[in-house]
Amino acid sequence: MALYSETVMDHFRNPRNVGIIEDADGVGEAGNPVCGDIMKIYLKIDDDRIADVKFETFGCGSAIASSSMATELIKGKPVSEAMALTNKAVTEALDGLPAHKLHCSVLAEEAIQAAFKDYYDKNHIPYDASLFQGRSCHKEADA
Ligand code: FES
Repeated sequence: MALYSETVMDHFRNPRNVGIIEDADGVGEAGNPVCGDIMKIYLKIDDDRIADVKFETFGCGSAIASSSMATELIKGKPVSEAMALTNKAVTEALDGLPAHKLHCSVLAEEAIQAAFKDYYDKNHIPYDASLFQGRSCHKEADA
């Protein structure tokens, strides 16, 4: 069996939503200190929906595929739904990642969360700080 699914290869070769949004409502970055890969997410939010989302990823193929899939999964969705995106959902939508590459999908979840936090902060929207803490993804990804 191939190491990477057809879906991963497709999103790696033809990543969706690459780029930046100049007037983004929220920008978030996540990095992995072990591999050194970095992911940046730009969100445009309109009427409580993800009107647009773009990413820049300096990283491995799995990180690029994860960013691409994650942006596709949240585009057009209500903020509450997009915020609930987990690395597990990204991995499943990619038809799986090798165990040692699960951390690449975590970057997507973390960068999106950071972008939402930035959006909340910039707009002075009150939120429960625990919303952005203790996400379970780390444990799963490190397993
Ligand atoms: Fe680090 Fe993929 S190897 S994000």
